[in-house]
Order: sequence, then C-alpha cells, then structure tokens
Amino acid sequence: MTENVRLDQAEDILKGFKLPPQPTIFAELKKVAPDIGKMAHIVERDPALAASILKVVNSPAIGMANKVTSIKHAMSLLGLRSIMNIINAAFVKRTISGFANMDQLNNFWYSTTKIAAAMGAIARHMNFKQYDISVDDAYCLGLFHNVGMPMMLDKYEDYFQRIRPTYQKGNIGLVEAENHFFGTNHTVLGFYMTKGWGLPKVIGDVIKIHHNLELIGNVDTLDEKTGVLLAALKMAEQIGGEAEEFGGVDYNVEWVEMSSTITSFMGLSVHDFFDLEDAIFDTIEAELEASNQN
Ligand SMILES: [Fe+2]
Repeated sequence: MTENVRLDQAEDILKGFKLPPQPTIFAELKKVAPDIGKMAHIVERDPALAASILKVVNSPAIGMANKVTSIKHAMSLLGLRSIMNIINAAFVKRTISGFANMDQLNNFWYSTTKIAAAMGAIARHMNFKQYDISVDDAYCLGLFHNVGMPMMLDKYEDYFQRIRPTYQKGNIGLVEAENHFFGTNHTVLGFYMTKGWGLPKVIGDVIKIHHNLELIGNVDTLDEKTGVLLAALKMAEQIGGEAEEFGGVDYNVEWVEMSSTITSFMGLSVHDFFDLEDAIFDTIEAELEASNQN
C-alpha cells in the first residue's frame, strides 16, 4: 500500500518538516503517573494550561454531565488515558499556531473544531463505549486528524491552494496529489506527530489511513476499533463540511464514493445518518461558540 512505502521512507519524508515537539510537561507527568494528586499538582503550576484543560473537559464535544471546576476532580473523573488525551488536546492549538502561517490557519481550525465536536458527539450518540472507545479518543482523533496540514503549510506556503482542486474535482485523491506536489502528505506527518506526542496508537493508525479509499472501502476488514473510528471520522468530515472549508465545494467526493460502505458498516440507514446529523448539529454549534470565547 502507498502509505507503507512512504512510512518505510520516514527519515527522508520528515527531512525539512518541523514536527512540533511534545511539550516538556508530558515528561514530568509521565514520571509521576498514575499518581493523580502529583499530576494535578504539576498541571496547576501552569494556570493557563490548567484553564485550557478545564475548557476541553467542559467543552460541548466532551459533554460531561456536570461542570468540572478543579484539575484534580477532572483527573479523578477521567482516568489516566483520558487525561493525557485532554492535555494533548489542550496543547495542540497553541503549539501549531506558534509555527505555521497563522493567516491561513483560520479555516483549518474552524473545520477541525467542527469535526472534533462531531466526533465527540458521534461517540456519545452511538455509544462507542461498546467498542472500548472513549469520547475523548474520538474527540482527539477529530482534533488531530489533519494536524499534518499545518506542517505542510509551514514548509509550503501554497499548500492549501495546491490541494484545493482535489476537493473540487476528485479525479485524483488528496493524498496522491500531495505526494505528487510535495513528496509526502498530511496523513504521514500527522501519524508521526501523534506517535511522538504519545497519543493512543489507534489514533495514529486511523490518521495514517484516513484518505486510503481502498481501506475505507474494506473497513470491515480492519480491527474493530480502527474500523469504527475511521468510519466515524469519515462521517464527521462529511457532517463538519470539510470539503467546503478546504475545497469550496458543497459535496465531498470521498463521501459520494464511500458513504454507503461507511454507513452500512456502522449499521445506519441513509435516514439514520441524517437523524444523527441533526442530533449532533447543536453540539457542533455550541463547540464553535465555546472555541470563540477566549
Ligand atoms: Fe485529511
């Protein structure tokens, strides 16, 4: 498969690209984990980080039943794996915004916020607990799935202009177009960043294949967690209007081709999918509103 060939060439691929390093606080947290008290103490030393974490915990996309006001409480409610997801989520925007071309990232964050919210909402509505997938796993996948794009933008100022036609025409896949123009693509870079940041392996695995139409078309052959998260991501991209943000078109060529495979894998009829879309629309709107309140 194409991405395997490219992953084998990792060192060459990553040359010239800046992978944002994981913030140093993670090393400190890992040293004291799983002691929640000590972890909370480290986080509380950085009030801006503590506020960002509480903002993510209380976001509409995560959908906690009650508002959480202390880091220690958040940590004791969430458990270690979720805490690390949330801390990664709290860091990603400020880290990326520090190195890529800010002007061109507005659309990117707008789209990413919608898709992350849709992922959290889909995970709740479809009870992903049955697959051992938490809401924050799904939310993080939404938040990080295109994180390779700012890295591409950081090296190639015309990145978004070059990929725009692939959303519009669909005669060549997005990843193939990126490989052609730039020698690598956002799925590979995203995979390596999430690996470096210690996000759950399944998140990187899905990022790596999220535009591989051959695997999407055979989603039932993947292991269950990977398949469910991949299918959910394709639904979230459609619901969040990713093709509109990046391609300026109101249709999504991947969705046109793959929607029946994806929805039937998830046990949804066409009507069920529209119902799901309606049901999570409010969460997306609320998340957009919350992300603007800073
Ligand atoms: Fe993507």
